[in-house]
Amino acid sequence: MTSDIHCVSSALASIKGIDYLSCDSLSSKETLALLELASQLKRGERRIDLGNRILGLIFNKASTRTRVSFQVAIARLGGQTVDLNPKISQLGRGEEIKDTARVLSRFCDVLAIRTYGQDEIDEYAHWASIPVINALTDLEHPCQALADFLTLQEAFGKDLTGLTLAYVGDGNNVAHSLMICGALLGVNVYIATPKGFEPNQNILFKANNLASSYGAKIQVFNDPFEAVRGANALYTDVWASMGQENEQKLRSQAFSGFCLDQKLLNEADKKAIVLHCLPAHREEEITTEVLEGNASRIFDQAENRLHVQQSLLAATLGGL
Ligand code: CP
Ligand code: NVA
Repeated sequence: MTSDIHCVSSALASIKGIDYLSCDSLSSKETLALLELASQLKRGERRIDLGNRILGLIFNKASTRTRVSFQVAIARLGGQTVDLNPKISQLGRGEEIKDTARVLSRFCDVLAIRTYGQDEIDEYAHWASIPVINALTDLEHPCQALADFLTLQEAFGKDLTGLTLAYVGDGNNVAHSLMICGALLGVNVYIATPKGFEPNQNILFKANNLASSYGAKIQVFNDPFEAVRGANALYTDVWASMGQENEQKLRSQAFSGFCLDQKLLNEADKKAIVLHCLPAHREEEITTEVLEGNASRIFDQAENRLHVQQSLLAATLGGL
């Protein structure tokens, strides 16, 4: 065990001080080491005390899991959170990101930011002198993907190469991060969306490039049955993400046939697991039967947000 701990710590040394803006901010090796540390922390094999480090949270969008799991994660590392709620800070009155980022770098040790455009978080990272973590943008949700692949490891073992994860629904931020992180870990990621809701082409290009280096396949389908056939994990997310609420009705029509139900699950591998990042809309993108069924690992997946983010904070703050 001591040598495991030593290996993980040395593999994570390169992460100290980095920004985690996209799943490809980490290499394949670093991602695996981060998951290993998360699993050690979860099993209680490892305790890390970083001293009194301060995590600043800037959330321009609602959150339950990400906000709470980050707060608990830094508390378990001996640190504290400052919640920089944009509604009661000068951010809400239009103070520029470049000024906010430089000022907060004088008070905090790390920032976790949930916002709309990826360009906003990139700008924070450019101006901040402390690590910036993407807590969800319209383009990516990389912390979620870390928790998702830890959940896959718990179900299928540490080596995920050759497994297939099929995502059914909107080609959104969650799908994008699954494609990139899956490619890094050698997992085939099949995405089934209605026509017009496919993933971003640049992300697809990036994921395909990575996948070719790690022997994985990233494929986009418009037929959910084709995507899920024989898959080891089925995944879905809401059809209208935060900020798209006015499209809810239009999307409900466009996505008919893309509900993750028992019929789709029957097409997957017999031992397939079901994942959803939550929050879920029951009987829309997933049936209650599947969400609450035996194949569901959805609440383990939610718990794993805590462990991967604790691991990420410890590594970026360099406390290993
Ligand atoms: N899955 C997820 O990010 O949940 P929250 O929006 O509640 O943080
Ligand atoms: N795709 C969803 C994920 C929520 C965790 C959204 O962006 O709202």
